[in-house]
This record gives sequence, structure tokens and C-alpha cells, in this order.
Amino acid sequence: MWWREAVIYQVYVRSFADADGDGMGDLPGVRSRLPYLRRLGVDAVWLTPFYPSPQVDGGYDVADYRGVEPLFGSLADLEGIVHDAHELGLRVIVDIVPNHTSSAHDWFQAALAAPAGSKDRARYLFRKGAGPDGAVPPNDWQSNFGGPAWTRVIEADGEAGEWYLHLFDAAQPDLDWTNTDVVEEFQDVLRFWLDRGVDGFRIDVAHGLAKDQEMPDLGEQFVAGGPAPFGHPHWDRDAVHDVYRGWRSVADEYEGDRAFVGEIWLDEVDRVAQYLRPDELHTAFNFHFLLAPWEAGALREAIDVSIGALRDVGAPATWVLSNHDVIRHVTRYGGGELGTRRARAAALLMLALPGGAYIYQGEELGLPEVGDLPDELRQDPTYRRTGGERLGRDGCRVPIPWTPDGPSLGFGDGAPWLPQPPEWAGLSVATEEDDRGSTLRLYRDALAIRRRHDALGDGEMSWLDSDGDVLVFRRDRRFGCVVNAGAAAVPMPDALKGAAVLLASAPLDDDGSIPSDTTVWFESGASASANPHDS
Ligand code: NOJ
Repeated sequence: MWWREAVIYQVYVRSFADADGDGMGDLPGVRSRLPYLRRLGVDAVWLTPFYPSPQVDGGYDVADYRGVEPLFGSLADLEGIVHDAHELGLRVIVDIVPNHTSSAHDWFQAALAAPAGSKDRARYLFRKGAGPDGAVPPNDWQSNFGGPAWTRVIEADGEAGEWYLHLFDAAQPDLDWTNTDVVEEFQDVLRFWLDRGVDGFRIDVAHGLAKDQEMPDLGEQFVAGGPAPFGHPHWDRDAVHDVYRGWRSVADEYEGDRAFVGEIWLDEVDRVAQYLRPDELHTAFNFHFLLAPWEAGALREAIDVSIGALRDVGAPATWVLSNHDVIRHVTRYGGGELGTRRARAAALLMLALPGGAYIYQGEELGLPEVGDLPDELRQDPTYRRTGGERLGRDGCRVPIPWTPDGPSLGFGDGAPWLPQPPEWAGLSVATEEDDRGSTLRLYRDALAIRRRHDALGDGEMSWLDSDGDVLVFRRDRRFGCVVNAGAAAVPMPDALKGAAVLLASAPLDDDGSIPSDTTVWFESGASASANPHDS
């Protein structure tokens, strides 16, 4: 069961590699860089949506679930990626977006053309407005991107009519998952991609599909944004589990250990664990770890709570520090040298923990968030829908640098769709390849050790005693990990005396103590030090 311990690399297709020079990443670009991912040492690649889409929300507005957006290439290009990836020993996971379609999807266009109460409208969540003339949204639900979650349509007679629900942008109408057309369509879409050899799916907004059919107001009880608490009228309703039981039986018809990973933002890990019961999804993103500040106590708690809750359902933990929706962790952890140092330490912590891990493109280069994009270039609908109050997520989506020069630092031959900061020349793949102390080389070393070391990946961990700012744990008798998240250097813990340093996120002090914001991997019984900073 590869997914119990896989390291999965997230390719944000728009910003990974641009083969045709139009400034936008594409599938031929991804295909050409698969050897880089193989060399990095990851096990699988997750591709963000590449389907036909108006790109209102970076492709999370899907107009056709069985095709490829011409901006990104063709179905043959996708098949080429699956083929080459498999030849290289990499698995491929694709994104599936079941909570909503694009407003350009045939179903929604048919729904707009059809009258209230029709079968076409019944696939979405159309409702009459409130107030005497229906001019008030049906309830107080809010779009995740800001503003009301309802938009009113103009009916065939030219009059304002029903409203439809969209928990995201108005161009992303929510589907009604009580409708059997919807249920059957998505099972068929799964088969379409499984037949093309994909190894699994990342499920967008997996906890959002079922809505309270009464559609009560949120009132004071629930605030919009952030992880969802229990009892919410449109997040984490029990009915959603039926959907995934159906999906699991589809995946189980196929050979080759196909897997689902859910994007499930909930307050309580116990509720996330419900999605990972043996007849539902395989794994889920662990946002508790991502949301924890760089503090030993908070990290330890996120780790314990996650492992504890998932163990009850027999699911492995997964760990993630960044993705295309959050501020890059170099910046979250303080930015600059401090942020980079902590990010390196966090990476070694993450990769030493039991279970699987996700790497977001560019984190292996130590890329920070880009905070100063020109406003007119921002594309995230959040920026527009909040009148600029929330900047949105463009700052973590800037195309990644491959070389220190060229019109887009090796991303492609044209100007990239979002400009790269000039200092990224020093963080390019080519630059870091040549630097023994670079973050790229750290990730590569860590992944190589992880591949060969039996103690790493799936399995158990046990904490050893440590001071407040320090985390010390073992994976087995031979492998130990120390994280010093504090401001002062700490001596090597007694329990690990005599163990050899396998890898360290920063050079150790001359007396062997572990400096501030540093993680060290130790191997007991090994003789030679493999600390890259020694050479
Ligand atoms: C989560 C995706 O990761 C995000 O990028 C997208 O905007 C929303 N879901 C809506 O599909």
C-alpha cells in the first residue's frame, strides 16, 4: 500500500514548467521535468486541475471533467505523463472537483436556460429568494472567497428569478449531491481517469458536498472561513460519507492500489478520521500540522492529535507544510534567513514522521511567498470578491525558477503569468543543484535516506523526554530525530549519545550541540557521519 508512506509532490500545473512559451505552465512542461522529480526522490506527483476551464479559480472551475484545457495541452499529453511517470517509478494523482462545476459546464448552461423546478436545475442548488419580491439571498451563507454564497439569475422572460448557491466564486455553482445524475456522473468520471492509468485522486473540498437540505442560516453560531466546526449546515454533513463509500467501491474494482486523498479542512481530527474508515477514502491532508506555529509544544500536539485520531480507523497520517492555498511556510515561519532556517528544520521533521508527506512545488528550493505582486496582475477571485481586503493566494503560485537567467528563470521562453522576484535567480534549481548546502540538496538527501531507511515512512514513533523548546523522538531503535525549535543551542540528548548524525538542517556547533531552529536525524549503530555540512 504505497499511499501509506508516499511522498507526493504537488505540481501546480499553471506554474511548474511552460513548454510552449505562452507564460502559462502546461502538461508538456510537466512531462519534460519528470526526471527532475525522480531525481528529487519523491514517490508520486499530484497534478492540480488541467481540465477545460475558464480559469476563474485557477482551474478549480471545471467545464468538462473528461478533457484537457487547450492552454495546458491535450489528453495525449496527460497520457504521456502517466506513461513516463510510471516508467520512472512515479505514481500520478489527479485532482477531482466534485463540490461545484464551472458556470461554463454544459449542465449549468442547461440549468440557466431551463425554468425553475426543471430537471436541469435540480443538479444544482437553485432556491427562491427571501423577502416579498425574492430580492434577498435565500440565507446568510457566505462564499469562501468573500461576499454572499448566492447569485441571482435572470430568467428567460428577462426578469430576475431564482438564486443559486456557490460556496466559492459565482462562476463555481455547487452541485446537489442528492441528485442521482450527479452521483452517477462522478463515478463515471472516476472510471474515465482510472481507465487512463491514474493512481489516485485528490478530492477538492471533500467535506463540502452534502448540505443541510433545510438550508438554515449560519447565524451567530458559525463564522465563515477557517476550518469548519461540527454541526455546520454545509460542511462535514454525515451524508457525504455515502458518496465516498460509492467512490471506494469504484476504485476497488481496479487493480493496482488506487488511492483517494481528501482535502478536508475541519476543526477536529476525529471528524477527519471518519472519512478514512476502511470503506471510504485512503488518506487526507493534515492541516493541523500545517496550521501549527513553529513552537515545539504546538507541533507536538498537532502530531499527537493527528496520529491518535487516525490510528483509531487504521489510517496513516500525512504531513504537509505548504500548498497552493496557503502562505508559503518560509514566510509563515518568519521569512528571510529565520524563515528559511525554520522551513529546513520543519522539512526534516515532516519527513521523519510516520506516514506520508506532501511537498508543494518550490518548497524544496526554499521559495518564500511573493508579497508584492502588482494588484492588476492578481488573479485569485478572493482579491476581487473582497475588494482587495484579502490579497488571495497568488503569492504562493508564482512560477518556479529553474535557471538563474532567461525571461522567466527557465520556467519557459516567455514572460510568466505572474512575475518572479529577481532574487529568485539565486533560488533556481540549477543554482541549488551546485550548492551542497542548498535546500534542494537537503530535500534530496532527506528523501534518499527516507527511501533506504526501514525506520522511516509508515510505522510508529515514540517521544523521548526533552526540554520545552525541543522535540526528541525515535522511529525505531536505530533512528532518532531532534528538533530544536527554541532560540538557544541545546546539547545532544543523552538518549542519543553515541549515535551518528545522518542529516542536519543546519551545521551543528563545534561542540556537537544543536543550534536554534535546527532538526537533526540520528542513526544509532552507524559509524560514518553523513552530515552534508561536513563535506
Ligand atoms: C480548494 C482548492 O485547493 C482551492 O485552490 C480552490 O479554490 C477551492 N478548493 C475551490 O475549488
